[in-house]
Amino acid sequence: MSPSVVITGSGLFTPPHSISNDELVASLTVAVNRWNDEHAAEIADGTLQARAVPDAEFIEKASGIKSRYVMEKSGILDPDRLRPHLPTRGEDELSLMAEMSLPAIEEALAQAGRRADEVDCIIVGASNIQRAYPAVAVEVQQAIGAGGWAYDMNVACSSATFSMQAGVDALRNGSANCVVVLNPEITSAHNNFALRDHHFIFGDACTAVVLERADDAVAPEQWEVLRTRLETKFSNSIRNDFGFLNPCEDAERDPFELVFRQRGQQVFKEVVPMVTRHIEEQLGAVQIAAADVRRFWLHQANLKMNQLIAKQVLGRLPDQMEAPVILDRYANTSSAGSVIAFHLHRDDLVAGDLGVLCSFGAGYSIGSLVLRKR
Ligand code: COA
Repeated sequence: MSPSVVITGSGLFTPPHSISNDELVASLTVAVNRWNDEHAAEIADGTLQARAVPDAEFIEKASGIKSRYVMEKSGILDPDRLRPHLPTRGEDELSLMAEMSLPAIEEALAQAGRRADEVDCIIVGASNIQRAYPAVAVEVQQAIGAGGWAYDMNVACSSATFSMQAGVDALRNGSANCVVVLNPEITSAHNNFALRDHHFIFGDACTAVVLERADDAVAPEQWEVLRTRLETKFSNSIRNDFGFLNPCEDAERDPFELVFRQRGQQVFKEVVPMVTRHIEEQLGAVQIAAADVRRFWLHQANLKMNQLIAKQVLGRLPDQMEAPVILDRYANTSSAGSVIAFHLHRDDLVAGDLGVLCSFGAGYSIGSLVLRKR
């Protein structure tokens, strides 16, 4: 039988700046009004369509998002810029993704009762990795003085659950003894803050999780991984075309045409049934009834989406404790979202309690872990 694996710690880095919906709407409204003024003649003769201004009430009603944290605020709120100021760093400086990983890893290792030099595998899973190589994970490995090996992987919003399964597999087959999964998400840099359909969706954050074999674990709090399950199905409904081939394209595209875009309604309609079935099959495989699951730590993209998934799985609407919401404060932090929910909303659970951590997003990609508190 393969050895039992446990989560022994988690950590969260929350960026220093918060932006409310009102602040975001105010800056985009200035930019939209300016654009409309500058193009008044074309709008009047029908060659261009006037741009519509955003609305803070719509944002909260459509998504449940009230604010988001970002690594840099002034550039996003500058109507002439609408993107963060993130200056280039020298090779001798810590990269931004490594920098935001360090507080998260420190907190997670403290919970696990582990020193950094005991870590022998680091996986950075994120929707966007700030360079092709050297891997950010290898940079973090050096920064904290860990041994073993490290690598980056990208499965969009499911990067955390996919990395966790990779960590679980490495522990079960003996190639690692102490795995740290990191999810540094700088979604503010892949978001187009000039588009009213998208400007409110994302926020930045970094999460960390420590995984070990149960026989080795020393943490006072441990979560046994009863089962992991990953699933993918190709879809163009969420795309990010930014990549190393862009400079070779004959027709140059605006960088903001290349980054995140989605057909939100379609995603909603297609992903909800997929995730519902995924969770039902996952629970069925371990013979656990949905009613016996104390907590669903779901991916945090849209409040209605999460309520609908939980309602279909449970047969009734979940209460706030059963499917906790963090997207009101953090917005969509991509792969970090479900881990933030796990990190912030598990203290009240007791030994034997069951939970499901589940992510879903571009790809499409869905990943989940069934967890039991020891
Ligand atoms: N302010 C005011 N109006 C806005 C707006 C804003 N910021 N953004 C969009 N609108 C408008 C649209 O232009 C549209 O106007 P129209 O009817 O005149 O065309 C209207 O509001 C409805 O837009 P729609 O896109 O249909 O809204 P929605 O209810 O689907 O909500 C999302 C949009 C993105 C919040 C929602 O579709 C969603 O969250 N989907 C799931 C996405 C997801 O999970 N993605 C995973 C990403 S990792």
